[in-house]
Amino acid sequence: MSSFHFLSFLLFLTLSSATNHHHYPAPKPSPLVATTATPAIQQACKATHSPLQCESSLSQSTLPPNPTSLQLLQAAMAVSSTNLATALTMLKSLLHASADSKNRTVAATTCLEVLHNSNHRVSLANESLPRGKTKDARAWLSAALAYTYDCWNSLKYANDTKQVGETMSFLDSLSTLNSNALSMAFNYDAFGNDTASWKPPTTERDGFWETLGSGYGSRPVTEFPDKSNADVTVCKGEESGCLKTVQEAVNKAPDNVNGGEGKRFVIYIKEGVYEETVRVPLEKGNVVFLGDGMGKTVITGSANVGVPGMTTYNSATVEARRVHS
Ligand SMILES: *[C@@H]1O[C@H](CO)[C@@H](O)[C@H](O)[C@H]1NC(C)=O
Ligand SMILES: *[C@@H]1O[C@H](CO)[C@@H](O)[C@H](O)[C@H]1NC(C)=O
Ligand SMILES: *[C@@H]1O[C@H](CO)[C@@H](O)[C@H](O)[C@H]1NC(C)=O
Ligand SMILES: *[C@@H]1O[C@H](CO)[C@@H](O)[C@H](O)[C@H]1NC(C)=O
Repeated sequence: MSSFHFLSFLLFLTLSSATNHHHYPAPKPSPLVATTATPAIQQACKATHSPLQCESSLSQSTLPPNPTSLQLLQAAMAVSSTNLATALTMLKSLLHASADSKNRTVAATTCLEVLHNSNHRVSLANESLPRGKTKDARAWLSAALAYTYDCWNSLKYANDTKQVGETMSFLDSLSTLNSNALSMAFNYDAFGNDTASWKPPTTERDGFWETLGSGYGSRPVTEFPDKSNADVTVCKGEESGCLKTVQEAVNKAPDNVNGGEGKRFVIYIKEGVYEETVRVPLEKGNVVFLGDGMGKTVITGSANVGVPGMTTYNSATVEARRVHS
């Protein structure tokens, strides 16, 4: 697959800043050919957050001279999928190299799991689109992106070797590619085949919380909760009707010893810095955190991500920073 060249290039960028490094499969960087993206690619890529990466990756895909919007989208998903496969290889390698650290082992294991989920969602999106199920495709791609963030988030708490840092950099690139595919799917759904009518994303996560239509599989894994339907809201300041700490909200979640299958308990944490350590007990397995975005909703001093049994995928919009004391 020719998108592999782009992937090699990304890997090369990631690795070239590193020295003394033996863990990854040896990259074979292809020289970056100064391809000019075709007008069709340029036009479609205008609909993404990162048009240059979009153009670069799609230019190296096998696309006909005048691709349809569906073909462009399929190429974008193929790029995501190929790079996801590389991320999985990197995570396996990291896991292999982490026998000395329980934290890194847990993080890498979590990551492998969520990246497998991510890959599966991309495949589902890819199957949905040609069948005209564009909203489903959007939802699956949203989920794929959220899972990638999750992986990144769990590594953040085990970032104590160079290999972890490099894996996180690669995940950054992967998120960009996922996000590009999602933006294109968003536009395809909203504006149809004519890429001239596609628009640049207006928010960080256009389409990110798209709710999946019913009747798709037995578990609504990609049914993203909505802030307006949150079970409880946490906020800073004088606003009434909201709790003041995240922990109080967690404590209100019902116990759900079975985990996973029951109703989710959605905690919307409004923008602000919450200086607390949040403990999510195992029996509260269906807690979902929704925030206002990375860097906006910030929980400091806590290790609230990667708690076994906790639904972490939505923690993507909540940034948790560990305080070094
Ligand atoms: C997407 O589906 C097409 C067939 O419709 C297939 O050829 C392609 O490999 C699939 N791509 C991914 C990333 O699953
Ligand atoms: C492992 O993680 C725990 C909880 O997040 C933390 O308290 C501990 O310091 C970490 N251990 C190491 C060796 O980093
Ligand atoms: C990971 O750790 C390295 C070394 O301390 C640091 O430079 C880098 O910014 C960290 N990465 C993230 C994403 O926190
Ligand atoms: C794009 O065009 C194809 C072929 O005419 C059609 O089947 C498909 O429904 C169109 N997609 C959208 C989102 O309008």
